[in-house]
Amino acid sequence: MRILVVGKGGREHALVRALAESPGKPELFCFPGSEAIFELAKPVAADGLESLIEWMKSNAIDLCVAGEESYLVKGEGLANLCERNGIPCWGPPKQSAQLEASKEFAKEFLVRNAIPTARATATDTLEEAVAAIAGEYPTVLKFDGLAAGKGVAVCPDEVSAMSFLDEVFTQRRFGAGRVLVEQCLTGPEVSVFAAIVDDQYLIFTPARDYKRANDGDLGPNTGGMGAVASRKLVSPEVLARIEQEIVQPTVAGLRREGLPYRGFLYFGIMLTPTGPQVIEYNCRFGDPECQAVMPLVQGDLATFCLAGANGELRSDLISFSEGWSVCVILATAGYPETSRNGDRISGIEKVSDARVYHSGTRLTADGAWETHGGRVLAVVAGGDTREAAVTQAHAAADLIGFDGLQRRRDIGILNF
Ligand code: AMP
Ligand code: GLY
Repeated sequence: MRILVVGKGGREHALVRALAESPGKPELFCFPGSEAIFELAKPVAADGLESLIEWMKSNAIDLCVAGEESYLVKGEGLANLCERNGIPCWGPPKQSAQLEASKEFAKEFLVRNAIPTARATATDTLEEAVAAIAGEYPTVLKFDGLAAGKGVAVCPDEVSAMSFLDEVFTQRRFGAGRVLVEQCLTGPEVSVFAAIVDDQYLIFTPARDYKRANDGDLGPNTGGMGAVASRKLVSPEVLARIEQEIVQPTVAGLRREGLPYRGFLYFGIMLTPTGPQVIEYNCRFGDPECQAVMPLVQGDLATFCLAGANGELRSDLISFSEGWSVCVILATAGYPETSRNGDRISGIEKVSDARVYHSGTRLTADGAWETHGGRVLAVVAGGDTREAAVTQAHAAADLIGFDGLQRRRDIGILNF
């Protein structure tokens, strides 16, 4: 089997590794990939979606796995192009990927399908947004488009709200687009992933992302500073409610509305005092949740994804370990506002009881790894208990160093 994975970050590194460990030993390719990924998957000579499709055709690719969301909605859409060219794709077509690309589309879908979610109003101007907030704080403001995880502001007061609205409507930091003014929900968050194949689904091990930059869950929102995954993260009762009130109606809604879906769907959920509610959908696996969840997946992920892309949900092909998995992100100084490239990384080779996935690294001319991006590495360890996984992941992370390294010390420990 010849598989092409699309993306370049730590999530794709984890996906590629899980696919590489599938029993059939598939031949792997990655676009655009990274030097670390190229140790497991060959690079592809393409410079855009169209040439990527041509490359897949002439290289007899059996399956395209969409890791990164941006390609799903670029141009005609990765999955749409694959379909037109007869290439099975694990990842949804452009019209369905609007669930992630447009927060307004997602909100309307949720409301139409009576799936619990925060109340929201779409606004076109700063004045409309201020009117919709109506002096009620805290409030949540969301730019209606892909903004690399930076388009959401939880605003405790008017000052923070006005500063975000100024960035969006005056400075146009994210380009043109509307803003959703949303009711602020409270409660712990959980990331739930389902593999969806038409009207069927399989729920993967739930995870929790540590979104804030600093210990104690303080500081700015980031792409994620770590994650913990375990079936025990959420009680069976709550997981059953999530399945009945959120996953099932989502799958049914996609069918009813003629939105084809074969791929991972990520449900960002808040466990509010009145029950689980959807904060967002993402049409892909989470990053860094993927790095925490993939080591818990047993079996044949490659054939599972291929069968899914061809319309068959083969739940018999994979299973999930019962234990815990903890992922600690090592980031550069200044992340998330800025990042620092070119600092030499030491100690990766000392890590033996954990996995190291590369999010933003580059090889130097003399073959050493250096930093290349805000999030640099994900160090992941497993254990039968939460404590064991936490101890091992942090001990492994302690072995790695680079100038300006920042990480959270409470990943897996802080429970919220
Ligand atoms: P999103 O990009 O939609 O996942 O939002 C990023 C983060 O903002 C979420 O993980 C939450 O921590 C927070 N957030 C989003 N929507 C809400 C909401 N309605 N109420 C409270 N917090 C929210
Ligand atoms: N960890 C959050 C995300 O992947 O969007």
